[in-house]
This record gives sequence, structure tokens and C-alpha cells, in this order.
Amino acid sequence: MNPDLERLQTYPFQKLTALLEGAVPPEGRTPIPLYIGEPKHPTPEFIKRTLVDNLDGLAGYPPTAGGEPLRTAIANWLRMRYGLDAVDPRTQVIPVTGSREALFAFAQAVVDRARPDPIVVCPNPFYQIYEGAALLAGATPRYLNSLPQRGYTFDPGELPESVWRSVQLLYVCSPGNPTGHVMTLDEWSQLFALSDRYGFVIASDECYSEIYFEEGRPPLGALQAAVQLGRQGWPRLVMFSSLSKRSNVPGMRSGFVAGDGAILKRFLLYRTYHGCAMNPAVQAASAAAWKDEAHVTENRRLYREKFAAALEILRPVMDVEMPDAGFYLWPSTPLADPEFARRLYEDQAVSVLPGSFLARTAHGINPGANRIRIALVASVDECADAARRIRAFVETLGYRR
Ligand SMILES: Cc1ncc(COP(=O)(O)O)c(C=O)c1O
Repeated sequence: MNPDLERLQTYPFQKLTALLEGAVPPEGRTPIPLYIGEPKHPTPEFIKRTLVDNLDGLAGYPPTAGGEPLRTAIANWLRMRYGLDAVDPRTQVIPVTGSREALFAFAQAVVDRARPDPIVVCPNPFYQIYEGAALLAGATPRYLNSLPQRGYTFDPGELPESVWRSVQLLYVCSPGNPTGHVMTLDEWSQLFALSDRYGFVIASDECYSEIYFEEGRPPLGALQAAVQLGRQGWPRLVMFSSLSKRSNVPGMRSGFVAGDGAILKRFLLYRTYHGCAMNPAVQAASAAAWKDEAHVTENRRLYREKFAAALEILRPVMDVEMPDAGFYLWPSTPLADPEFARRLYEDQAVSVLPGSFLARTAHGINPGANRIRIALVASVDECADAARRIRAFVETLGYRR
């Protein structure tokens, strides 16, 4: 077997299962799971209908690059959403079967093992797929801490020049999971300068881009930032987007990559062998979803309601803050985060993810330590109920802000 499999870390949800083993929630209390970032709002009817209406497509093999109608729908969405003048649906867009598989596959296509000491940079805390992708591509992951005292911005000085010279790929996540931080134009400018200097590829994970709180003020995207900074053709820049959170279809497995056409050409070659072409019915449903914004606006309204309710309940006892975007709260805990999560479950039947399960100790700090990730994915009422239970638990610890 591939020995690199041994280098993979246990996945955060498995760590949580082990942590909660033997923990018994109070009798009669309905469990509320807020540990996983899986949207729970219903899938819009028109998406389901389009899926069913296109089942005839199952009779043929879909092309790896996706059909023209979906690629055009995505290119049009990109133009509209990010104010881009031109996106070529033939060369600058590839539909993917969920951003997770694409984020993973991308490292396999990008990393050159023949160069000495390949390095892949991940934010910290982070979505663990980046790290696994780096390890299985034969690279060493290195981490840039995302800390509240720095407003969750990255500090390139955490890695020495000698490391930057070996970086081949860098993942960013904006809006961030779990911090909710949206990268500013200044941060992008700094990152593009580093990429130009050291020649690494940027993989920009933007799967939370449509969960924001002020209509008319969506998060800045990587491609948009590049254009605003006067860059042409998105050199060494690829963004990853997804319908999972935007349109409440995590089970449909649909997203796309867009950006540098030369890189996407090579990535498409990789994908021919990878074998992840999108089901034609899913393509039709995805095109319909990218063409509609009304359901996304409604989705955001529900998240706004949940944040308003949860923040009002939790603020007196925790340092919860409204994130820039996304659907996570990322407060600090008065106990070590694994202990907090286990005792909260035993006391109130609410499960949250210990922050240290989402981060590594880097530069002497584990940025997830003494934090928890609360995913506001359940219904408005359930999220408010969970917030009340978390507050009651924190109060039993005798902790007030
Ligand atoms: C940061 C981040 N990126 C990517 C994904 C993958 O999403 P999907 O594969 O459903 O597009 C997730 C899912 O939770 C995520 O949190």
C-alpha cells in the first residue's frame, strides 16, 4: 500500500466520535448536532424537479469537462457575482463533483515530486482535506496561523524564506472555515506578490462565499481581487466553489473550479484519469441552481435569523462574534475545548466540534485550542434552543463575561 496513507491524520469527526464515546446525554433531551457543516435547509423544489426531469441523460457517459450549458451557466454566474468582464467557459471553468474532491485532486495534479522538498501551505485552523491532499501528493504541509488577535489575517513571516522557496501550492479559505474571515484586497495583494515571487499556485476555497449577511455586500473573491489589482488571466490562481452550502444540495456533489486556463488544461488531463465526470442530470440541476439567486437570498435570510438569535443568547456568557461570512461561530471556551465539548454533550445533548481538532500546533500555538466550532445549520428554532442550552451549560461552570 501507499505508505503516505500512514501520514494521514484522523479526521475531526472521527476524533469527535472517540471523544464522545460513552458520554450519555440527559434522558429525554433531543440531541442537537451542530458539529458538522452540513446545510440542513431543504433543497429547493426546482432543483429536485430539474434533476428528475433530466434522468434520460443517464443513458450516456458525460464528458470530463462537463457539458457546454453548465459551463456557460457557471461562467455567467462568475461574471455576474464578481463583476468580471470575461470568463471563457471552455478554458477557464471545469465543473467538479463537489469542491472536496477537486481540492484533493488539485494537489495531485499540481505538486511536482521531482523538485526537492515540495511544500503545500495550509491555513491553520483548516479544512483537513488540504492536509491530506498535500500528504498524498508527496508534499509536506506547512501552516499559517489564523489568529483572532490579527483579525485572522495570515503572517507570511511565520515561514522562513527557505520554506517559501519550496512552496508549490498554497490553500486559502475565504470565507474561512471555521473563522468566517473574508480576505481583503490587501491580503490578496500580499498573497499574489508572494505567488509571483516564489512561483506557487494558489487554490482559493470559496465554498462559503454565498453565506453572507448584508445583501448587496458579498465577500470579495480571488478572481475578482486579481482583476481589481490589474492582473490579467489569473496566473497561478484557481478558485473552488460549490452548490452545497449556497443551494442546500450537499448530497448532489456539485461545484466548479475556475481561473488560470493553462493550469485548468493540465487539471482536466488529470481528471480524465481521476474519473469524476458529473452525472448529466446533476449537470442540468446545477445549471438551474447557478441561474437562480432567489433561493440563495432566502437561504441567507435564515442564516441571518439564526445568527441574530444565537448571538443574543450567547453574548453574555461567551465571546461570540458575528463572522464576516459563513455559518460558523468560533468562540473561545472557559475549559479545554475537548472537555468543554464532551461535558456540553453530557449536560445538554448539544454536540459541537473542539477547535483543536481543526488545527495543528504551528509556531508554538494551536489556534484551535480552547475554541469550539458551532455550525448554525439546524433550523432557526433548534439553533436558538441549542444556544440556550450552551448558555445554561456555561453558566453551570460559573462563567460570565
Ligand atoms: C472549507 C470547506 N471547503 C470545501 C468543502 C467541501 O464542500 P463540497 O465538497 O460539498 O463542495 C467544505 C465542506 O464542508 C468546507 O468546509
